[in-house]
Amino acid sequence: ISAQDRAILTLYDDAMHFYHYLLLNTAVGDAALAYLHRRGLDDSTIDTYMLGYAPAGDALFQYFKEKNIDYQLLRDSELFIEWDDGSLHDRFVDRVLFTIRNQSGAPIAFSGRRMSQDDSVAKYMNSPESSIFDKSNELFNLDLAKGSIRKTKSVILFEGFMDVIAAFQTGVTNGVASMGTSLTQKQVQRLGRMAQGITIAYDADTAGQAASLRALNLIEQNSAAKPQILHIPDGLDPDEYVRQKGVEAFQQVLKHNLEDPVAFSLRYFRQDYNLQNQNDIFNYLEQVLPVVAGVKEPLVRQTYLKRLADEFDVSLDGLEEQLRHLLLQKT
Ligand code: GTP
Ligand code: MN
Ligand code: MN
Ligand code: MN
Ligand code: MN
Repeated sequence: ISAQDRAILTLYDDAMHFYHYLLLNTAVGDAALAYLHRRGLDDSTIDTYMLGYAPAGDALFQYFKEKNIDYQLLRDSELFIEWDDGSLHDRFVDRVLFTIRNQSGAPIAFSGRRMSQDDSVAKYMNSPESSIFDKSNELFNLDLAKGSIRKTKSVILFEGFMDVIAAFQTGVTNGVASMGTSLTQKQVQRLGRMAQGITIAYDADTAGQAASLRALNLIEQNSAAKPQILHIPDGLDPDEYVRQKGVEAFQQVLKHNLEDPVAFSLRYFRQDYNLQNQNDIFNYLEQVLPVVAGVKEPLVRQTYLKRLADEFDVSLDGLEEQLRHLLLQKT
């Protein structure tokens, strides 16, 4: 690591403490603090994650200017945006701040959430990549979660910061987030080296379920870890679920709503069909039989076939025959 990068890391650490201080100890941070409390975060969680508030204006720039930090360094840090006249201005304005730390716990980027409901403004804004932040390689919370991941040999993969933090606050400490839905190969390989099991706990909305299927394939192709999918009921995301249903209910879901890849696929593809309709039933079966055919253990394969036969009132023999055709085609 270069001297320049070391200096930039120090700036991020300073900035994190500065934003955290503003959140907790000044009147400009009051609304943001109330926002976080309203979202169910307690003070110890706010401290653990060093959550912050970036006010309007150029508070951070002024702060560094008073400390006589080199202008070129400030420019390279990506903490600011540069106007056409060459002046630097705070990148994060009136946002609640989440700090993204590397695996050793050093702050390397921020993500700011707007507090208003205003959809014309991006909900989250992230630091761009920089010499210290390779987005495709980092996972939010890996530094705090790594001990628990190694101990339990398993990791839970969430979509968002709030999901990880809400889970952490309930005592589920092996969660990380891919920060959005675009999980990368590098992130998967990294998790695969640390854990034997990866639980995908994405949002239950359409985007989250599509991302789950993608993550599933990525994990199967890039790691030896065993993937599972956590099915959050009622179309909620994990954070909403904890807030609305409580800690107990969330823990029940974690225990009982795990699906293996086949169970997930059988559920996932249902959405494309109207299963009251006989023709749709056949099309659905045609779509999912190859998935079942991919199951290596005969008993497990049999169980899924039986389940499909029972649900759609078709003969097990018929399904088995069709499956044999598929298996023959594959070899
Ligand atoms: P909350 O509404 O605060 O609970 O966030 P969320 O995590 O539920 O957000 P959502 O499910 O919509 O998105 C999941 C993740 O995608 C977020 O945690 C962000 O990392 C990312 N994301 C969401 N919206 C935006 C956006 O407008 N811009 C960017 N860059 N990332 C976003
Ligand atoms: Mn520090
Ligand atoms: Mn989402
Ligand atoms: Mn969400
Ligand atoms: Mn959410």
